[in-house]
Amino acid sequence: MSDEKDTTVEDAPVEDAAADDGTEAVEEIAPEPEPDPNAVTVTINGRAVPARKGELIIAAADRSGDYIPRFCYHPRMSPVGMCRQCLVEVEGPRGPQLVVSCMTPVADGQVVHTESETVKRAQEGIIELLLANHPLDCPVCDKGGECPLQDQAFSHGPGESRFVEEKRHYEKPIAISDLVLLDRERCILCDRCTRFADEVAGDALIHFTQRGNNTQVMTFPDEPFSSYFSGNTVQICPVGALTSTSYRFKARPWDLDQVESTCTTCSVGCRTVVQASRDELVRYNGVDSEAVNWGWLCDRGRYNYQSTNSDQRLGSPLVRTTDGLTETSWHSALAAAAGLIQDAIASGGADSVAILGGARGTNEDAHAWALLADALGVTRRDAQLGDGLDPAVFSLAQATITDAATAATVILLAPDLKDELPVLHLRLRDAASKKRTKIIEVSPRQSGLTAQAWRSVGAAPGTQAAAVRELLADPAVAAQVASGSVVVVVGRGNLAEHPGHTLDALAAVLAAVPTATVLPVLRRGNVRGAVQAGLTSAGGADEILQAAADGKIGCLVLIGADPLRDAPDSELARRALAGARSIIAVDTVLTTSSTEAHVILPAAAAGEKDGTTTNLEGRVSPVTQKVTPHGTSRPDWMIAVELGTHLGHDLGIDSLASAQASLATTVPAFAGVTAEALKAADDGVLLAAGAVGSIPTGTAPAAPERNSYDYRLVVSRKLYDRATGTATSTTLAPLAGSAAVHLHPLDLDRLGAAPGSSVKVTSATASVVLPVQPDATVVRGTVWAGWNLPDTTIGELLDTAASIVDVRVESL
Ligand code: SF4
Ligand code: SF4
Ligand code: FES
Repeated sequence: MSDEKDTTVEDAPVEDAAADDGTEAVEEIAPEPEPDPNAVTVTINGRAVPARKGELIIAAADRSGDYIPRFCYHPRMSPVGMCRQCLVEVEGPRGPQLVVSCMTPVADGQVVHTESETVKRAQEGIIELLLANHPLDCPVCDKGGECPLQDQAFSHGPGESRFVEEKRHYEKPIAISDLVLLDRERCILCDRCTRFADEVAGDALIHFTQRGNNTQVMTFPDEPFSSYFSGNTVQICPVGALTSTSYRFKARPWDLDQVESTCTTCSVGCRTVVQASRDELVRYNGVDSEAVNWGWLCDRGRYNYQSTNSDQRLGSPLVRTTDGLTETSWHSALAAAAGLIQDAIASGGADSVAILGGARGTNEDAHAWALLADALGVTRRDAQLGDGLDPAVFSLAQATITDAATAATVILLAPDLKDELPVLHLRLRDAASKKRTKIIEVSPRQSGLTAQAWRSVGAAPGTQAAAVRELLADPAVAAQVASGSVVVVVGRGNLAEHPGHTLDALAAVLAAVPTATVLPVLRRGNVRGAVQAGLTSAGGADEILQAAADGKIGCLVLIGADPLRDAPDSELARRALAGARSIIAVDTVLTTSSTEAHVILPAAAAGEKDGTTTNLEGRVSPVTQKVTPHGTSRPDWMIAVELGTHLGHDLGIDSLASAQASLATTVPAFAGVTAEALKAADDGVLLAAGAVGSIPTGTAPAAPERNSYDYRLVVSRKLYDRATGTATSTTLAPLAGSAAVHLHPLDLDRLGAAPGSSVKVTSATASVVLPVQPDATVVRGTVWAGWNLPDTTIGELLDTAASIVDVRVESL
């Protein structure tokens, strides 16, 4: 900006000394920069502080380093002025007045005192009142040592209390959900948890009940606090009233070591702080990243550190012998793995080896596997498992999360973000509820954002592109998309449908709105990094699984991949694993698929290794090691390098730093992702954009005519399922709901089946029996089922080659 301004001034035409008409020339003076109409100056404790109109005194004081004590104020939520701890004095015409600094905006010329005698007495009085009923169980309270009430009682309290009466008592603690416990007598009624649940998460499941002295936080009768975001309330509660079942009595702040890292459970890439005690992970907390998560985490990402501590972890390599899977040394396991790869190449060439997975690892891990594949000439590799999109979506003009959350219009052609990418859901919910953004949703089922959407169209499988064209032909919609920036959020809303339908719908938007940018929402943690680092091939996972099923794969390498659970077409995955002549699995635990392997190499898990990860926007951020890897497990990049050595290939990597440097120099998208750039950036480094490309269209086979007795199948994920990280986290595993098929209530009436009764669901390839539930969020004529839920067999019905899946539903 300053460069532009300088150029303008220097290049301004210089007037001749005298004008042509003989009048004296007027020297041209560069215009003064326009004063910012929103800039104001306040004086805080005698110092001038620049501020902006509308800013709160407490926020301006934070910037100037004048800390004002507070309990209820939270910069990411509306101020409520509940606790009165933040009283300060503001000079006015009638002398200084006490005001609540979290509710009072700055004004030009305002004079504020945050440390006067009056302020001190007022703040002490508030602390004294707050402590009147507080149980003072600091020695046994989880918050002790990191409690704002404890800290501020020392720093801003009176030192002693005049209240001698008996304190309030409640039963303690009570479980308000499977994850959160409430000690009501510790609560100071600050409204942070209730405000978060209502305003940020949109799950107003906790609220204040009773009145006066009996006011308390409570759930509705018989309704637990079953929000996907409940752990945030534990983090922001300024006392120990809300605690996590997984952390209670586990550690104290002075026992904890911590590092900042990035959550890789899904591809939002929320910033976290990873805390460990005695070399064991004990807690994750959210870190406020302006570009990504605003401090929030979802409960799945917050609590699945337990999977790193799981007693199911693999600590030693395993090889299959006549006695089954047997522990062995790394050297012999790597030699055995190298032998399997060499045998496959010797009998069928490099095409006889395939690599599936990589999205669970770091960018450096993916790079090392890609280098090994290059060295061996292996082109069959894919970090997606047939549940994603053509990587060409990354070549379209990309949008960031902030672009989407500040766009005039967001067009959602995506799965339910609340279930798949929860904190992205919070960012878009904020944008829509604060009226910055209008959401247009085209979805096979209502989503967590439907209530916020400006337009929501339920499109049956195979019809999104037609639905998009019809929608954009509506003059009101056309006017809306013409009114400002448009971001298309695009992902797989239905695993039972050919991905080409989603690309066709995206192409329909881009044809009508060529300036629209795209935010691809592929779900797996580092899927974008792994794909852009080279773990992708033309046919993708479906082609690899088909080749394996056809007996063309001599060695299938699974890198943190469980195709039997994760690939949409279960029957194809089963045939693939049976058809591959040998399998090498690199994983943290034994999964349904890795149990079938001939060699299993134990990998370091989240919290046990350093590196970088790429989120759905293409933002690269560091992941950080906090604890020692379990047993002899090691990072994937190291495994790939050592396997390369056994195969006679030097990958040119001997440390994480050299893996990072190699990635930055050999993969153009990672060119700017250097250690220095990462260190300098608060919010990670975006991948470099290449030339804008295009996506293939018309790849989906034509959908067959609809038989009026059949339903079109929609399959999508819930937050809690049988994914490895969830299934091996003790407090999360029980949250995965049971499988059922959902029909619109009118369709269920037509079927004549009672809710909860068993129905037979038959596709062209298989039949399954599942309970049926009425569900008004399902489009009429379609049937919805959750993916990868306990006891589910829904993958038996899917066929990746088909356009859509029609099913017959019969009462039993
Ligand atoms: Fe505030 Fe905690 Fe009470 Fe909620 S439980 S109102 S966050 S003190
Ligand atoms: Fe982790 Fe995704 Fe949840 Fe963020 S939204 S905490 S990245 S699982
Ligand atoms: Fe201002 Fe609570 S922080 S009233």
